[in-house]
Amino acid sequence: MAALGASLALLVWFVFLIFVSVWKRIYSSWKLPPGPFPLPIVGNIFDLDLKNIPKSYAKLAKEYGPVFTVYIGSKHIVVLHGYEVVKEALLDLKNEFAGRADIPVFEAHQDFGIIFNNSETWKDTRRFTLTVLRDYGMGKKSNEERILRESQFLLEILRKTNSQPFDPTFVLGGAPLNVIYNILFHDRLDYSDKRCQKLLHLYNENFYLLSTPWIQIYNNIGSYLRYLPGSHRTLYKNISEAKQYVSERVKEHQELLDLNDPQDLTDCLLIQMEKDKKNQKNGFDLENVTVTVADLLFAGTETTSTTLRYGLLLLLKYPEVEEKLHEEIDRVIGSERMPSMKDKVNMPYTDAVVHEILRFINLVPSNLPHVMNQDMQFRGYFLPKGTTVYPTLTSVMLDSKEFPNPEQFDPGHFLNENGKFKYSDYFKAFSAGKRVCVGEGLARMELFLFMIIILQHFNLKSLVSPEKIDTSPITIGFGSVPPIYKLCLLPRSEM
Ligand code: HEM
Repeated sequence: MAALGASLALLVWFVFLIFVSVWKRIYSSWKLPPGPFPLPIVGNIFDLDLKNIPKSYAKLAKEYGPVFTVYIGSKHIVVLHGYEVVKEALLDLKNEFAGRADIPVFEAHQDFGIIFNNSETWKDTRRFTLTVLRDYGMGKKSNEERILRESQFLLEILRKTNSQPFDPTFVLGGAPLNVIYNILFHDRLDYSDKRCQKLLHLYNENFYLLSTPWIQIYNNIGSYLRYLPGSHRTLYKNISEAKQYVSERVKEHQELLDLNDPQDLTDCLLIQMEKDKKNQKNGFDLENVTVTVADLLFAGTETTSTTLRYGLLLLLKYPEVEEKLHEEIDRVIGSERMPSMKDKVNMPYTDAVVHEILRFINLVPSNLPHVMNQDMQFRGYFLPKGTTVYPTLTSVMLDSKEFPNPEQFDPGHFLNENGKFKYSDYFKAFSAGKRVCVGEGLARMELFLFMIIILQHFNLKSLVSPEKIDTSPITIGFGSVPPIYKLCLLPRSEM
């Protein structure tokens, strides 16, 4: 009898808890944008295809409009869908929407550096880094020089494949890694160097894991699941290992620092740190320098490298596009001289292909999560300070009015009827506003030059017929991850 009473009491207690949780949710979401009704504990995870959340967002936008709320677990997030609303948030209301939401697996970077920084040091860190990046991008040791110098190493290793099938992941990773490595550390790593391979492996694995369904849930539910087994633990380990590597390089730089003769971006940050210390300013300390450098090394490597790799896969699928690229490269540059950024105005087709690759692959489909910096009324809804907001980039770059057949890879999306390059304000691969990608200029330059260098010297050969190539991402989350594939590079001079 006593056992029955206790069970009944427990049941009542449990029902009461569910009631309170549902009531709290209804009450707190009263003025939030509309969305599917969340279940207790799990929220809307059954309304979302966790393997392709951007696709689910597109469906929900049809039902609830361009601003809607979804719950992952008990956390609510607001999704912005479509050009008008994304532009309004990122550009017209840029201060209000400029915060960065917590991403639990990046705890080791949180509130330091740039990407995951939502503290008062973000603005100065970002501004100072951008100034130094600009200085290092120009003049004698310009980024163009860096990229062209690195292309020689890239060509050397590509030639060594001897027209045999190979997986391009690590080779195409090494080139962007070395460009940003040189800006940060005034050095480069040989492609066979264990440190190079280790970093590339960590970044590649992280980009994949970050895009898997479990990490979408984990990053929203919170770090109290941290000690459970799962791939989030690999991510924590990898992120900490990559940070440790950077920390050692930063300390080496500190020991050799000449305040009057900085050699690279790390030196510039360390000099600024000394100035801040002297002026008792709460700006750069050693942790902030380390995380800034770690942010740039990761963001500067994996994004560009994945885009190059995905881009070559698309050219294998669409050999007619590759053929037109060869034609333009041969006509404008020829086979002897190196390409230059000055060639871009005369190469509208190549320019259009690079834009179309970035649009089509949609590397960061939902964007990185932003957070409201203050309470605000937005399109008739109340968004409290601290609300996580996704200004989704897919919804802009797959707009069917701007890009007819948006799901089709077609460089014509960026060409006018005279074959000239056509600008589109819907091209937002790098986002926009206060958090816009810090490396946009560098990435665009690398993609243009590396792509040309590869195609100037090689014809691409697929191991299967183009119709059999599936270019769909293997997983979509934080990023769109391309399928693993092999190709052959046939030297053009021998054709
Ligand atoms: C194809 C290449 C790239 C793509 C598609 C890309 C895309 C993006 C996107 C979508 C964001 C989020 C913006 C937002 O929160 O609204 C971002 C942020 C960022 N990117 Fe990139 N990126 C690329 C290359 C690079 C490179 C080469 C670097 C480094 C030199 C870099 C450094 C950063 C940093 C530091 C941020 C954080 C900005 C902030 O939070 O203030 N990215 N990028």
